Amino acid sequence: MNRNGLGIIKREDVTRELDVARAVAERFEEAGRVGGNAPRCFIRTFGCQQNEADSEQLAGLARVMGYAPAEREEDADLILVNTCAIREHAEKKALSVIGTFKHLKEANPDLIIGVGGCMTSQKHRADTLKNSYPYVSFTFDTGSLYRLPSLVAEAMGGKRKFAESDVYGIAEGVPVFPKTPHSAWLSVMYGCNNFCSYCIVPYVWGRERSRDPDDVIEEAKRLIDGGAKSITLLGQNVNSYGTESDHGCTIAELMRRICRLDGDFVLRFMTSHPKDASDELIDVIAEEEKVVKHFHLPVQSGSDRILERMNRKYTREHYLGIIDKMKKKIPDVTVTSDIIVGFPGEEDADFEDTMDLLRRVRYDMVFSFIYSPRVGTPAAKMTPAVPHEVSAERMERLLALQTAVSDERNKRFLGRKVRLLTEEISRTDPSMLTGRGDPARPVHFSGDPSLIGSFVDVEITEAGAFSLTGKIV
Ligand code: 5AD
Ligand code: SF4
Repeated sequence: MNRNGLGIIKREDVTRELDVARAVAERFEEAGRVGGNAPRCFIRTFGCQQNEADSEQLAGLARVMGYAPAEREEDADLILVNTCAIREHAEKKALSVIGTFKHLKEANPDLIIGVGGCMTSQKHRADTLKNSYPYVSFTFDTGSLYRLPSLVAEAMGGKRKFAESDVYGIAEGVPVFPKTPHSAWLSVMYGCNNFCSYCIVPYVWGRERSRDPDDVIEEAKRLIDGGAKSITLLGQNVNSYGTESDHGCTIAELMRRICRLDGDFVLRFMTSHPKDASDELIDVIAEEEKVVKHFHLPVQSGSDRILERMNRKYTREHYLGIIDKMKKKIPDVTVTSDIIVGFPGEEDADFEDTMDLLRRVRYDMVFSFIYSPRVGTPAAKMTPAVPHEVSAERMERLLALQTAVSDERNKRFLGRKVRLLTEEISRTDPSMLTGRGDPARPVHFSGDPSLIGSFVDVEITEAGAFSLTGKIV
């Protein structure tokens, strides 16, 4: 139990779910549904890396239940949708995808459809799915993913069940079926206590709770033994790691411990809140060879007035101070950020402050979003709303500026040799491979697909705003 009163979900509860999962697998086995005839599970994931990581747990549980992965929804006996609620667009997209499953259910009445994650952790959305999507069998919230086996077993018996958003703990021992074992996610904490006025996360993920450092280290070892060459530590606010626990281990110490593990791997982390980005954390990035020299530090706005309305709890000067400190310690650091455009009350002068901040920081890359009101958050009631045309025009200007800066920043790599982890076959050109390293953007190079999962040294020969190209040296 940590000081937020949020416990570790009991190991017995997870074990019980695994027993249910194995019982489901036995039923499939008795019905001859094994091997090529095994039932199939299709998982569609929306949203951030946390959801990607959670979907690998869903896949792990589905595997214990006897499901093989399905390539397409059409081939599935079980469809799971892991949703995002960060902006309205993400929710609309998920709902429209779920809508397309209606005809699949008509064609196959035994099809089980489960929807979970951030969107369904809001009562009004769980209610919508219950009442207007009769072909959805169950929903589960962000904290009760480990209950998937029971939900599936009940759905097989014809029961529909809808999440109540009551479980905000940590479930240890849930099996994982990684999509890319060489590039692994590792959740270290869940939830957020910051209540930025625009953000739905604290409502759908609950309060901050951190995993025990020993559990994290054990998992890191397992991942490395399983072939992980890149580990990304995940948390909605990793700087708060451990602050609500009694173990006293900070995120910086945790990273140092992971770096001490044997193996050739790199370590990344996200996401950080500027109000508690510590010197200790900057030192870890600077000093530890295994840590990728990249800091994602979302600023959201360059205007103090808007930062205050956003309840961000830092000023523009404080933020720029962190960036200065970091650039002094790590001159070549890659810095990226998130920006919200068109927050309620954002005036031209506020937006110009954001543009000015972008010019001063010179980010390698920025993820920018038009503000989207979220039901139940304070900002949803703030006025005046910025008209969409104004936000869209500001966004266009921001993108133009940032594209030019990203282009210049990426050009610093020209002629340089960088060490990359070969991640995949390029999504845009199947004759190329894509790797990642210190540059914020992916690097494309030609090479044999057998290199996927290995480190390569690549000399950068072309660099644009959105990608880099190189050749293996
Ligand atoms: N509208 C627009 N963007 C948002 N983000 C979070 N909430 C909202 C919202 N309501 C953005 C922030 C955050 C990123 C993950 O999503 O920039 O850092
Ligand atoms: Fe949302 Fe703010 Fe928490 Fe990030 S720190 S998850 S933006 S409330």
